[in-house]
Amino acid sequence: MNSSTPADLSGRKVAVPGGTGAVGEGIVRRYLTAGADVVVPTRTQERAEEFRRLLGDAATDRLHLFVHDYTTFAGAEQLADEMVSRLGGVDDVVAPIGGWWAGRSLWEIDEADWQSAFVGLATAHMAVARAFLPRLSPRGAYTLIVGESAVTPIPGSGLVSMEQAALRMMQQVLTAELDGRQRVFALQLGPVATRLTGAGDPDQVTADQVGEVAVAASASKEAGREIRMRSRAEAEEALDLLRGTRSAAPGTVLAVSTMEPKDGRRADLLEVLAELAEQIRAEPGCLHYSVHRTRGEDSGPLLVVQMFASIQAFTEHSAKVAGQIPRLGALLATPPKPPTLFEPVPLGDGTAVDPLPA
Ligand SMILES: NC(=O)c1ccc[n+]([C@@H]2O[C@H](COP(=O)([O-])OP(=O)(O)OC[C@H]3O[C@@H](n4cnc5c(N)ncnc54)[C@H](OP(=O)(O)O)[C@@H]3O)[C@@H](O)[C@H]2O)c1
Repeated sequence: MNSSTPADLSGRKVAVPGGTGAVGEGIVRRYLTAGADVVVPTRTQERAEEFRRLLGDAATDRLHLFVHDYTTFAGAEQLADEMVSRLGGVDDVVAPIGGWWAGRSLWEIDEADWQSAFVGLATAHMAVARAFLPRLSPRGAYTLIVGESAVTPIPGSGLVSMEQAALRMMQQVLTAELDGRQRVFALQLGPVATRLTGAGDPDQVTADQVGEVAVAASASKEAGREIRMRSRAEAEEALDLLRGTRSAAPGTVLAVSTMEPKDGRRADLLEVLAELAEQIRAEPGCLHYSVHRTRGEDSGPLLVVQMFASIQAFTEHSAKVAGQIPRLGALLATPPKPPTLFEPVPLGDGTAVDPLPA
């Protein structure tokens, strides 16, 4: 598939709680375009009618839009059950639940603010995740939509920042707990151009692009990860990554290490490298991680090949794994050395090397 080929998700069953919202609209449209069956619960009849009107001809018979409160544990459980019994299963979930809150410093909030902007939203996300994840098909993905406010405090909107930071951590905890059985993504958005804001800044990601990236995540086999898409350039980069079309652009860093295990410790070394694979592949700047052996040899050295989007991504990676070096060192015949770094060589026709599969 090349970068402009739309994904075909025919037959996939996708739930989008929060899909009636400004960002949700782009997500729902994109999954419908990709051929999926899309379930959009909404808490009110007015919202259902308004959303159907907004979608116009895009509201095909594959759109299952109905009134249902999915924001409680019992409500989400009932929704997931219904979806399994009526559509035969659930493949993907995208959760653009919740909106914006602003107006007070943290010490000025009252209990109503706390309940609505933090507890209510966190509960809705928790309810949906716990109801749907155990029912999700292995090919699908669970995608949380979070804002940049998860990592950057916004004075006067602290409750949003705190709740979004909790969601961001939810993706990380779920990824660790699921241990490769399901893929969980978090799309981290800056301000989005939606039906409510109009076109705005040309560098702003649109709701439609959020949908495009969510669809690409579902269609890919990429491990779940956080995907930053705070600008159109980052959205394009995310699409290339998810569609496997990301090329080794100038600035890419290939890091290669040879590891000679101590006698009798090769299996332990492989175990540590496999454990690190998940963590390293989930780093936003990691493009590739693989471990190789001499062809046909069950003993001898291992070659670890990693590719990073930039030297900065490699430096961040090195800081993250620094704590693992003594653990690796204990299994190696010689003290661990930093990897040898390579960069792409332009081939004269504007291309560098072919991309490595992730
Ligand atoms: N818009 C942006 O520029 C932007 C930027 C960065 C991140 N985000 C993130 O994207 C997600 C969706 O944002 P949005 O702008 O699309 O919000 P929105 O227009 O307010 O829509 C959110 C939807 O979530 C549902 N919802 C469920 N519980 C809710 C609650 N307690 N309060 C409010 N809505 C609730 C509503 O659906 P029903 O009423 O139909 O059930 C609503 O349509 C949020 O997580 C937000 O942080 C948005």
